[in-house]
Amino acid sequence: MERLDKLLASTGRWSRREAKRLVKEGRVLVDGIPALCAEDKVNPERSAVLVDGADIGYARQTYIMLHKPAGVLSATEDPRQRTVLDLLPPELRRRGLFPVGRLDRDTEGLLLLTDDGALAHRLLSPKSHVDKVYYAHLDVPLGEEDRLAFAQGIVLEDGYRCMAAELALLGDGGEVLITLREGKFHQIKRMAAARGSRVIYLKRLRMGALSLDGALPPGGWRCLTEEEIAGIGGWK
Ligand code: URA
Repeated sequence: MERLDKLLASTGRWSRREAKRLVKEGRVLVDGIPALCAEDKVNPERSAVLVDGADIGYARQTYIMLHKPAGVLSATEDPRQRTVLDLLPPELRRRGLFPVGRLDRDTEGLLLLTDDGALAHRLLSPKSHVDKVYYAHLDVPLGEEDRLAFAQGIVLEDGYRCMAAELALLGDGGEVLITLREGKFHQIKRMAAARGSRVIYLKRLRMGALSLDGALPPGGWRCLTEEEIAGIGGWK
């Protein structure tokens, strides 16, 4: 059994305060009856909870888009450092979310958090080859030769040959867009290093069909829309 306001907030769609207001306004139905009190306990496995006539979809999995800021770890917990989970409210933290893949501590941008293990497995599988688009700022600009080298497969310092990647030069090549179809440790930084440059700033903009919402500030998050969830292959 869970308090109604906590249950509503655990979907990530409303804060506890908004949930209380929804109840007050008579917009929340529990098993067809308007809820009177946000503190009432409900069993989400057994009761149908509707807000404005729509099922809150409690039993379904949760998919969160986070604009990861620099300085937090892509991990679920750490004894010393802040993790991406620390950026979410407690109701969501309790849902067992984890980041799908990792961004370095100093990398910003799109991070998907979910409790859908099967989806994470599909997206992270070495066979999946989902496009990942990054914006990078470099200390030494890259050029046309580097673009061709990226297309042919950069060889990293450990001898690994990367899959073909797209390098789009912005302006003089000090800023670039890089599209990868794999995700090796520090891959962009190591690819840039292989071409004699260093990444000063890195931000992930897109993963497959999912683009970072430009309205989210660093540290901001929101639930994926149903369309976005379908686009990444969730809720099958
Ligand atoms: N490549 C990197 O070097 N770092 C990231 O965080 C992501 C891709």
